[in-house]
Amino acid sequence: MADATRCAIPLAEIAEGQMLVRSINGREVVICRTQHGIYALDNVCTHAYARLNEGRLRGTRLICPLHGASFDVRDGRPLGAPATRPLTTHDLRIVAGRIEVALRPDAAEPQSG
Ligand code: FES
Repeated sequence: MADATRCAIPLAEIAEGQMLVRSINGREVVICRTQHGIYALDNVCTHAYARLNEGRLRGTRLICPLHGASFDVRDGRPLGAPATRPLTTHDLRIVAGRIEVALRPDAAEPQSG
């Protein structure tokens, strides 16, 4: 895809229950495939600096590896302390066997740690 705020990933690259990370316009996005669907979110925890793809995905719950906060991948809301702020979610669609992710317009700037 030509747009610097988008990327496309073959669906076959991610199995159910797995995560993968892509950098889109300098922003790390974690893509989570669950039995309920596929979701794209910022990969950096809102509590402190930790990469969420290094944690665990349990159903629709994404668990931070550093202090154990968890988030609902469907909408980014925090499910467990110590994080209190939601993760930013990004638009995702499946087109011809590829996952297309587009950064939310208000999240197009690279993340800061
Ligand atoms: S950095 Fe994720 S819970 Fe603290």
